Amino acid sequence: MSNVNERILGIIDFVRDCYEAQTRAFSAFEYDYLRELILKNKITSVLDVGTGEGNFISGLARLTPDVMYKAVDADPELISSAREKHGEANLSFEHRLFDHSFPSGNFDLITARFAVEHMKNVPEFILDAFLKLRSGGILMITEYFIDTSYAGNSTWKLFRDKELEFYHNIGSHPRISLALPKYLKDHGFSGVESVLRHVSPSTVGQTDFYNVIRSYANLYSAVEPDLWTKELKQQILDYCDKAHTEVTEREDVLFVSQTMGRRP
Ligand SMILES: C[S@@+](CC[C@H](N)C(=O)[O-])C[C@H]1O[C@@H](n2cnc3c(N)ncnc32)[C@H](O)[C@@H]1O
Repeated sequence: MSNVNERILGIIDFVRDCYEAQTRAFSAFEYDYLRELILKNKITSVLDVGTGEGNFISGLARLTPDVMYKAVDADPELISSAREKHGEANLSFEHRLFDHSFPSGNFDLITARFAVEHMKNVPEFILDAFLKLRSGGILMITEYFIDTSYAGNSTWKLFRDKELEFYHNIGSHPRISLALPKYLKDHGFSGVESVLRHVSPSTVGQTDFYNVIRSYANLYSAVEPDLWTKELKQQILDYCDKAHTEVTEREDVLFVSQTMGRRP
């Protein structure tokens, strides 16, 4: 059985906007963090698991031209689009599932960005990643965390509740962030650490923030139209148009986790 939720495969036309919006909104803090990690640890080889269309990893490859990147995804359409879009000399794409059969690469760093939440067996992935790292190599997982408790108004609360339901419906993990540090520790990683980043209009800017929310509403509605009805989608899109220009007391916020550990 493959270690990926098939519900998210073969839907390139629905996910494209979402992956681009996420890269625009979140990448500023992610690039700073990863570039520092790469330089500090003298990393020269990176494997990106679940690279999608490769938007994020190609930006990182441009920032660190001395590092060799290999990027894989289980979705063939995303990989052929990635090849067309990105031509960095230090980055290669491969259509391939990452699992125990993946050839050992002795990688210095394995990254997985918004991919683990769509894996069927997360502990299995952690073990597979451990085995493909060199001694001293680092696993770095970036994940989404759906919080439904902090909401300044009923529409934002509705968005978050329906987002949570969407994840449950399609069989993905809306709060895998919280389980990751222990999974890493249990599988032998040392120096495990994890941070939760606040992604909000104050940290990434109003435009990029609400463009991400718009792209989520469009994606959820395309994939699960019975849950994310046309009316719900329109309500969220209207909210984004309004929120974009309004200053509110309690701002909307998404959480993104960065969890890492080192193979001893
Ligand atoms: C939400 S997308 C994230 C894409 C990209 N990392 C980004 O940040 O834009 C998750 C991707 O992970 C891929 N994926 C999940 N599990 C995988 C596995 N075990 N092997 C290869 N690809 C996997 C899926 O096919 C999907 O394209």
